[in-house]
Parts: sequence; structure tokens; C-alpha cells
Amino acid sequence: MDYNNKLVLAPMVRVGTLPLRLLAAEYGADITYGEEIIDHKLVKCDRIVNDYLGTIDVVEKGTQNVVFRTCPEEQSRVVFQMGTSDAVRALKAAQLVRDVGILTDCPRCMKSEGQVKNASAMSISWKLIRTLVRNGDAVLVMAIADRPLRNGILKRIKITLLIFFLHSCNDVAAVDINMGCPRSFSISGGMGAALLSKPETIHDIEKTGVSALAVHGRKVPDRPRDPAKWNEIADVVAALSIPVIANGDVFDYEDIQHIKNATGASSIMVARGALWNASVFSPKGKLPWEEVKKEYVRKSILWDNEVKSTKHTLKEMIMHHSCLELPEGKAVIKSETLADLA
Ligand SMILES: Cc1cc2nc3c(=O)[nH]c(=O)nc-3n(C[C@H](O)[C@H](O)[C@H](O)COP(=O)(O)O)c2cc1C
Repeated sequence: MDYNNKLVLAPMVRVGTLPLRLLAAEYGADITYGEEIIDHKLVKCDRIVNDYLGTIDVVEKGTQNVVFRTCPEEQSRVVFQMGTSDAVRALKAAQLVRDVGILTDCPRCMKSEGQVKNASAMSISWKLIRTLVRNGDAVLVMAIADRPLRNGILKRIKITLLIFFLHSCNDVAAVDINMGCPRSFSISGGMGAALLSKPETIHDIEKTGVSALAVHGRKVPDRPRDPAKWNEIADVVAALSIPVIANGDVFDYEDIQHIKNATGASSIMVARGALWNASVFSPKGKLPWEEVKKEYVRKSILWDNEVKSTKHTLKEMIMHHSCLELPEGKAVIKSETLADLA
């Protein structure tokens, strides 16, 4: 996927499900991120083709709980975001929706070296020592890798890698690793911002072969009301040669040009601005939010979106534009089904 000159819907937990992604794309978003899903959850899921809706569903095994739903219409622009603290588990999880991480040109030939690419800084270059077990679509290998120590010295370590062979499924256009989530749940689990405790390693991240980097101009202690530091995003843009997607405080279409000018980034990502009114991506200017809300509900019903997600998104919209204490807000709070929300 080309990451230059793109308008991007940001990842948003509970919000960035299929209806909002399709809506944002209709209004002009070129790339649409799904919400962050933790790899531990994904490895307990199955990929199911839903013929009734025409979707691909990632469903928790033994339940009806749809963790991720996508459809062919968005295949070329949807980014699947994952939370992880472990490269090999992330790789396995990502392969539910995308053929990532196969290291050599020809995995079946098992060339003797490669890179576990999981679109994150955790990619490891390795040299095969021996194949331990081959089992259908997977192979366990013993390898050696160079791990950088804190003092910059490389230490040679033995690692065991579980490699999955390609089973052609490319339901999403790309996989993104969340390296910025500041919640204590993420950080204590070694995920999110814990993966980026040393921002000066930005060049190492670039060297792993990632296609692009989205940068939100806030640090862990910053609150959403603190202004995003566009000047610091500009430093990242200047330091890297891969595309940088600038994110933070874009609420109107005109802000897109402002953040481009301030950061030098050609691609811009929008979160809250799109949650409150997905037509923020439209060059014609924003539509009335009630109109956007109606279309969002229509799409939620059409794609059988999880009620909790639709309800949460509607509440956020109403809280921003109106008030949850008014009859509409109260009705949304009371709703238990998509039909109630309609
Ligand atoms: C409701 C909500 C949910 C979010 N969930 C995620 C997430 O799942 N993954 C992530 O990387 N960032 C998440 N973020 C952060 C946004 O993607 C974005 O970086 C941040 O809100 C700044 O952009 P903005 O100023 O356009 O809102 C979330 C933000 C909001 C408001």
C-alpha cells in the first residue's frame, strides 16, 4: 500500500469497526484503521467466512463473539491494528488476516536466513541452525540472532522460531503494531508505549522494513486536551525516509493543510475529529452531524455491528454535539439492540 498523500482514519477502540470505517471512506478517507486488538485474544480466534453478510469475521473460538469484521470492499485500505509484546505471537495472530512474516522468498525451501517481519521494531534478523519440527503449515526452527544490549554491543543468542507458511489470505491491506498506547493495562503488559520507551531508536524501527510510521504528537503523561506537538512530529518526519503519518488535533478539513505545513508529513490521521463527524474527510466540508449519525446507524444495522460498539460511538457523538441527558441520549443509553438504536 502507498502511504504518501493519504487521509487516514485512526485506530479507535470500540469505535473503529466496519460501519465507521466504511463511512469514513465514503467521505474521503483513503486508509482506515481498525481498533486495536490484543494478540492474546487473536490467537484464540478463528477466521470465518460469513456468507450471509459477505464479510470475513474473526471470531473467538467456541463463541459468537466477533472480534474483527471486514469485507472485500475495504480490503485494499483497511489496516489491522494489534497490541502485542511478543514478535512470534504477533506474527501468528496477524496471519489470521494477512500473509505476513514469511521470511524467505520461498518458505518451503527454508533458505538459511531471514527476518521475522511483523511491521514493528521487534523484527529479528536470524540465521537458521536447524529445523526442529515440521508440521503441516508450520515449522519450528532453532536459529541464532544478534540482540543489541543496552550498551550498544550485540550479543549472539539462540532463539526458537515458529514459522507459519503462507495460506493465502489477505483480508486486510496492512498490519500495524500499536507502540503508543499509554494505558497502564498496555504498558504493564509490555505493549503499546512500553515498546517505544526509547524514541531515539526510531532509525532501528525504520530499518526493520516497516512501510510507514504513524506518529501521534503526545507523550504518555499528556492528556487529550493538551495540544498535540506538531513540531515534534516534524522532527520525526525530517529524521526518516519512510512515509510518516501525522496525527493529533485535526478537527476540520482545513486543519489537514495546517498539520501538513507544520510537520512536513504528506499523510494525515484523524481520530476524534472523525468519531464526532466522519465527514471531516470530505473536501466539501463537514455535513451536519445528525446526517452522519443516521448513516452510521444505518451501516451498523446493515453490517450487524456489535451493539456495544455502535452504542459507545453514538454516545461519544451525542456527548460532543449535544447532551446525554436529553431524550435522544437517554434512549441510546437504554438501548439493548441495534433495532432499539434505530
Ligand atoms: C475513542 C478512542 C479510541 C482510541 N483507540 C486507539 C487504539 O485502539 N489504538 C491506537 O493506537 N490509538 C487509539 N486512540 C488514539 C488515536 O488513534 C489518536 O492517536 C489520538 O486520539 C490523537 O488523535 P486525535 O487528536 O485526532 O484524536 C484512540 C483514541 C480515541 C479518542
